[in-house]
This record gives sequence, C-alpha cells and structure tokens, in this order.
Amino acid sequence: MAIQTPRIGYAGIGAYVPERVLTNEHMTQIVDTSDDWIQRRTGIQTRHILAEGESILDMAVNAARIALEDAGVEAGELGDIRVGVNTWMRFPSLASQLQKELGADKASAADVSAGCAGFIYAVEEAYNKLLVEKLCYGRDLTALVVGVDGLSHIANWTDRNTCVLLGDGAGAVVLKSVEQGGILAIHTHADGRHGGLLYSDPVLSPQNNGSPKLFSHKQEGQRPYLHMDGRRVYAIACETMARDARTVIEKYNAVNGDTIGVDDIAYVYPHQANMRIIETVAKKLGLPLERVYHQGIRNYGNTSTASIPIGYADNRAHYGNGNPERLEIDVAFGAGFASGAILRRAI
Ligand code: ACO
Repeated sequence: MAIQTPRIGYAGIGAYVPERVLTNEHMTQIVDTSDDWIQRRTGIQTRHILAEGESILDMAVNAARIALEDAGVEAGELGDIRVGVNTWMRFPSLASQLQKELGADKASAADVSAGCAGFIYAVEEAYNKLLVEKLCYGRDLTALVVGVDGLSHIANWTDRNTCVLLGDGAGAVVLKSVEQGGILAIHTHADGRHGGLLYSDPVLSPQNNGSPKLFSHKQEGQRPYLHMDGRRVYAIACETMARDARTVIEKYNAVNGDTIGVDDIAYVYPHQANMRIIETVAKKLGLPLERVYHQGIRNYGNTSTASIPIGYADNRAHYGNGNPERLEIDVAFGAGFASGAILRRAI
C-alpha cells in the first residue's frame, strides 16, 4: 500500500435477522440442556432462526436493501457483489441470485466460502477489485458485500454440543470511494490442517455410490450436519484471532512507516462465536470489553459470516455513527481454519 491508494470504505451498512426467536428455554425442549449451562459457557440468550419458507436468499436481500438505502446507492449502480456464505449448498451462486432479486444488472457476482471468516474474505475480494479497477482501468466501481448464513439448516438438532450455539442472519455493506474513513489494511490466512475439527458433511447421496448429487432439503436424512470439536476449536480460535488483529496492524505499519499499536484501536468487532472466545481475545489484546463488540452473541448466537456486519448495524442502532477518524478492527475465525482481520477507520 505504499503507492497512493484510493480511499475505499463502507458507504452504507444493513442487517437482517429472522423474526422467529428461540430462547434458551426453547432449547431445553429440544435437547438436554439448561439456560444456566448455555449462558455460562457461551453467553447466548436467544438466537433467530429461519421460519418455514423463509430462505437464506431472503435474508441476504433484506440486509442488502437496507445497506443500499443507507448508502444512497441504486442496485443498478453496483459493479460487483460478493457474498460470504457457507450454507448455500447449491449453484448458481447466492450472489447471482441476489443480483437478480436486486436488479443489479451491471454487477459481477460470486460467493466466497471461508467459514465464519467469509465476510472478511468477501470484503477483501471486493476491495481488491475496486482498487484494480480504479488503478488499472480508471473506473470507479461500487460493490455490495454480504455476509449471510442459515446455520439452522445444517444444525444437528439432536446434538446439544453444537445446536445451542447457532443462529441465522445477514449483514451487508456497500463499498466505494469515500471522502473520509476507509479501509487501511486487510489480512487473511488459512490453515487447512485443522479441517477435521469443524466441518459439515459432504453433500453426497449414499444411494448414488458417493457421487456428488445436488442436495435437496426435501430429502430427509440426507442433509449435511455441522460437526465441531469445541474444545480444540476454542483454543486455536483465541490464539488466531489475537494474532490476526496484531498482524493487520503490523501490515499497515510496515508500508506506511506508522507505529499504530493495539492501544490505538478504539473498537474491535470480533466474530461472535461465543462469549468466552470474545473475552479471551479481548484479554490477549489487552482491551477492555467496552471496546469490543460482544452484544451480538447474547442476542443472535453464532451467525457465522453475518456476525460482524450485524454488529455494525447493532452498534449504529444503539450509539449512532462513531468518529470517522477513530481506528477499528474486524477479526474473524472459522472452518478451514480460515481467518482474517480488517484495519479501518470507523464506519
Ligand atoms: N447443555 C448442557 N451440557 C452440555 C451442552 C449443553 N448444550 N453441551 C455440552 N454439554 C456437556 C458435555 O456433554 C460435557 O458433559 P460431560 O462432561 O458429562 O461429558 C460437558 O458439558 C462439557 O463439555 P465440553 O464440550 O468440554 O464443554 P466446554 O466447556 O468445552 O464448552 C463449548 C463447550 C461452549 C462448545 C466450548 O468448547 C467452546 O466455546 N468452543 C468453541 C467453539 C465455538 O464457538 N466455535 C465456533 C468458532 S468457529 C465458528 O464460528 C463456526
């Protein structure tokens, strides 16, 4: 980033969660658990779950429309759409279906699969595209980035170890040239060696000799489930998120000759996996919890790719816009293990 890079940042934000709420009390009717266990181990009180007939695409459309309106951008002005998603088990891509629903007929569109870090990866892809279009072709593009997941569709509702953690939701940002604020650096990383600690079943039909077959929710007993070794994921998630938050700062400092430190970061949006991970990451970074978003895990559970942009909208609703010059970090970790962080000015 030593060259004079255009200032690109969030011009609009939006979020959507389904109306249907499952409390911890509801969870006790589904699996052998208790409100006390869930709150003590995870911090979760409620999660929002897709209703019958409501789809992942519906959530993406709702969040995207709010973000576009917030940015004052028409769908027809979009040049690119990136969707971070893990639970759209089919093609064509969710991004292309979102493009159709929005009428964004000039936009390229593609999905990004990077576990719960999908939003960070999707922002990186859109950001890089906007930079290349500007620097190489002199074109000012506007992008829509959505993080959306319907984890309830791959939850094993008989497994108390995992189903109590998960929720559905969507968040979106509009990315374009901005006068103030903007993204300063992005770092992404992956370590495929840990693929077996957090994964979903392959979309295979046993009746088809193991050959890939398009998954249908109507085929009872054939849907993929999420599997997780919670303890081992927990330890690596905490280490990795703290490391990535520091790495993105170092990356920025290295090319800008700056000396930003974690102390200079006014606020952090960590992926909302569970309260204990958030607390441990905050502690490793030496940040008080007041400077770390953590309200999402209580109200929405783990919404995977959606949890960070839902956090933006959540904070905007409660506290309004922040000082655009203050520094913030987004940091996420998920299946893969894929992880990453964004250093940027406040929204
Ligand atoms: N209700 C009651 N008891 C439960 C429940 C439940 N919902 N789930 C597990 N238990 C029991 C277990 O059966 C076990 O009982 P046992 O000792 O009789 O065998 C006991 O609680 C302890 O189980 P652990 O799995 O060891 O519990 P732990 O303290 O590790 O907490 C948790 C589990 C919350 C999943 C924890 O490991 C964790 O936070 N892991 C991180 C996982 C995570 O959030 N990953 C997401 C990051 S990536 C992404 O977002 C997809």
